[in-house]
Amino acid sequence: MDTPAVPDAVVVIDDDYPMRLACSQILSRSGYRVDAFEDGARGLDAVAASKPGLVLVDLKMPGLSGTEVIARLHEIDPTITVVVITGYATISTAVEAMKAGAYDFLPKPFSPEELRLIVQRGFERRQLQIEARHAEVERELQRRRFVTFVTHQLKTPLVAVHQFLDLMQRLEDTPDAVAKRADWLARCLVRTEELQRLIEEWLTLARLEGGTLGRQRIRVDVRPLVATVLESYRTLAASREVSLSHELPDDVCPVHGDPICLTVLLDNLVTNAIQYNRPGGRVGVCAHCTPGEILITVEDTGAGIPHDALPFLFDEFFRVRRPGNHSRGTGLGLHICRRIVTEMGGTIEVESTEGAGSTFRVRLPFYAEPVAGPGDAGPGDHVG
Ligand SMILES: Nc1ncnc2c1ncn2[C@@H]1O[C@H](COP(=O)(O)OP(=O)(O)OP(=O)(O)O)[C@@H](O)[C@H]1O
Ligand SMILES: [Mg+2]
Repeated sequence: MDTPAVPDAVVVIDDDYPMRLACSQILSRSGYRVDAFEDGARGLDAVAASKPGLVLVDLKMPGLSGTEVIARLHEIDPTITVVVITGYATISTAVEAMKAGAYDFLPKPFSPEELRLIVQRGFERRQLQIEARHAEVERELQRRRFVTFVTHQLKTPLVAVHQFLDLMQRLEDTPDAVAKRADWLARCLVRTEELQRLIEEWLTLARLEGGTLGRQRIRVDVRPLVATVLESYRTLAASREVSLSHELPDDVCPVHGDPICLTVLLDNLVTNAIQYNRPGGRVGVCAHCTPGEILITVEDTGAGIPHDALPFLFDEFFRVRRPGNHSRGTGLGLHICRRIVTEMGGTIEVESTEGAGSTFRVRLPFYAEPVAGPGDAGPGDHVG
């Protein structure tokens, strides 16, 4: 395994002894651990062995040139910060150093303060680079985990459908064959619906990530949108014996956002409120204007969510395991909701009591009519 770089260690490579001495003294006094070398070859060996965070290197040296040293330093450690010291501070030498991968250059003569500042900035930049690299690695790992999980989720229902089809193909003509076939076909339908939902949700996420969904910012009237969404779930709610209601004041302000996203958001919250409810339960949707934003609430009298599950509720693929409940969801719905709300500049939160019900609160920026500017002056207003 690679040895991690030493955060406060500096290596100075310069053939000029007074320069090496001055740099070492100034930087040691500032708390850095400094090693100095008179030529590139020795400096490179030391860097490979001690992994400093920053190297100060003279651009013009006998033997290995400064630019060669910079290239080799980055072969040893691509994150190393290199500052070039040069007595020939011309644009061309600076360009040469930057092209070779140096972070900055310091023309001789320089003051102790200039040296300290450039080294400090170099370390700060290095830290930012390391953090960005970690974030990038984490994103890549997360992407891979996501792909693995989705592949698994796609495979499971497909395997089940395949097995039922196989069974049906080999089914003998016994008295219970018709009933068996009907049962297996029904199971196949459930599993294919599951597949469709997963693919749809996956596509929604990909479109949100790719920017083809959620970028629109227009006036969206909440009243008709909520009414349409609730209407489309009347049959599902009735089949579960759940009643739907809404409270939408006439003066509820419009949202500034994307109408498709808002529909996807409400679809998910309302389906959950119905699906995780009980016979005789209720689902209510309200919208109110608050200063600067609009508050949409989806409330239900369903199963509620265990307290310890709440911090993970909006994570991708998170599902609450409940004994006796075999509902098949993907666990992407609320993750999509959070992505949408964040994309639109709002927030989503949940309050829930197990056995009593849940309330999801979504806050979104409201749409303000553009104010007429001076360019929109009426016919009577003219200058001259
Ligand atoms: N209103 C609710 N009442 C009780 N539990 C809920 C409610 N909404 C969500 N949950 C719980 O949170 C989990 C995650 O919900 P989410 O909508 O993300 O996924 P899902 O419903 O399982 O699948 P899908 O992605 O198909 O919607 C659900 O499995 C459910 O257990
Ligand atoms: Mg859901």
